Amino acid sequence: MREIAGELQREYSDALRDYLARPNERALRRVYEMGRGTLTDGVGVLGIAALHHQALKDVIPGLSEEIEEALLIKRAEDVFIESLMPFEMSHRAFREAIAVLRRMNERIEQEAKRIAHALHQEAGGLLASTHLALEELSHDLSPQGSERLTLVRQLLDQMDEQLRQLAHEIRPTILDDLGLLPALNFLAKGMSKRSGLAITVEGSTEGRLPPAVETALYRNVQEALNNAIRHAQAGAVAVMVSREARAVRCSIRDDGIGFDVSAVTAANGERGLGLVGMRERLEFLRGTLAITSAPGQGAELLMHIPLEG
Ligand SMILES: Nc1ncnc2c1ncn2[C@@H]1O[C@H](COP(=O)(O)OP(=O)(O)OP(=O)(O)O)[C@@H](O)[C@H]1O
Ligand SMILES: [Mg+2]
Repeated sequence: MREIAGELQREYSDALRDYLARPNERALRRVYEMGRGTLTDGVGVLGIAALHHQALKDVIPGLSEEIEEALLIKRAEDVFIESLMPFEMSHRAFREAIAVLRRMNERIEQEAKRIAHALHQEAGGLLASTHLALEELSHDLSPQGSERLTLVRQLLDQMDEQLRQLAHEIRPTILDDLGLLPALNFLAKGMSKRSGLAITVEGSTEGRLPPAVETALYRNVQEALNNAIRHAQAGAVAVMVSREARAVRCSIRDDGIGFDVSAVTAANGERGLGLVGMRERLEFLRGTLAITSAPGQGAELLMHIPLEG
């Protein structure tokens, strides 16, 4: 590492000397390429600043007698700007990618609303028609047949209830209308009923949170509960929400088999998208996710989102 840094320093000083003596495109191209290289090899923007500073110390004394100081400073500025250009470009690309992701996220939420609505209205409507058709059919049946039909109707009622529950979970109107805690309680009740896992929701947000924060926390708790049901073999999960002066916290803790967090998060997308998605949703809001777990010791996810104002 020290050797590579020394080599890089020599190369940078060389290019700077070349440009300061006589401005030319080739020297600028060299420092641009060096800047680009340091983007990927981890030297970073501070490393480039240090390289430039050291290069000035190496090169200026040899040139200051021949070339005017103001001119040297101006030329050194050209070189410095050129070496930072790759960072500026990647920063811009990053900001654009974040904006695209944010728009995609908004679209997914809208889509979820549409699907939830369709599931609720259209499947609900079809079930109502089925009930009517069965009602008519029952007139033509023997008492025994009618009894069996009652059983079918009960099953249909159950289906109706489950569809309703699912539609609300996909995009709960309760989240828009009443806020995070009521929506989480509703979600926990439905998931607990389907899975047999005991899920408690406690705490308070002390009033409504910004809609983007409520949606992100809801989606993340939904994913965490899904994970607890699918992977944890847990008996109980506790969801806890608390409000600080300028932040909101939410934890999800289960008493299941736990997992090796660093192994899972190092798997670079080879596994699921759940935890990755959770982090991304939080990143939009400058929030963080901390996971503590070890095999055999349950898992705890802690989310922290700063609130403005
Ligand atoms: N509460 C938990 N208990 C035990 N293991 C867990 C828990 N949460 C996550 N894991 C482990 O972490 C892995 C990654 O979780 P993640 O949600 O990212 O993906 P997934 O659930 O496998 O797939 P996806 O969420 O994309 O459907 C899981 O496969 C599981 O091995
Ligand atoms: Mg998952």
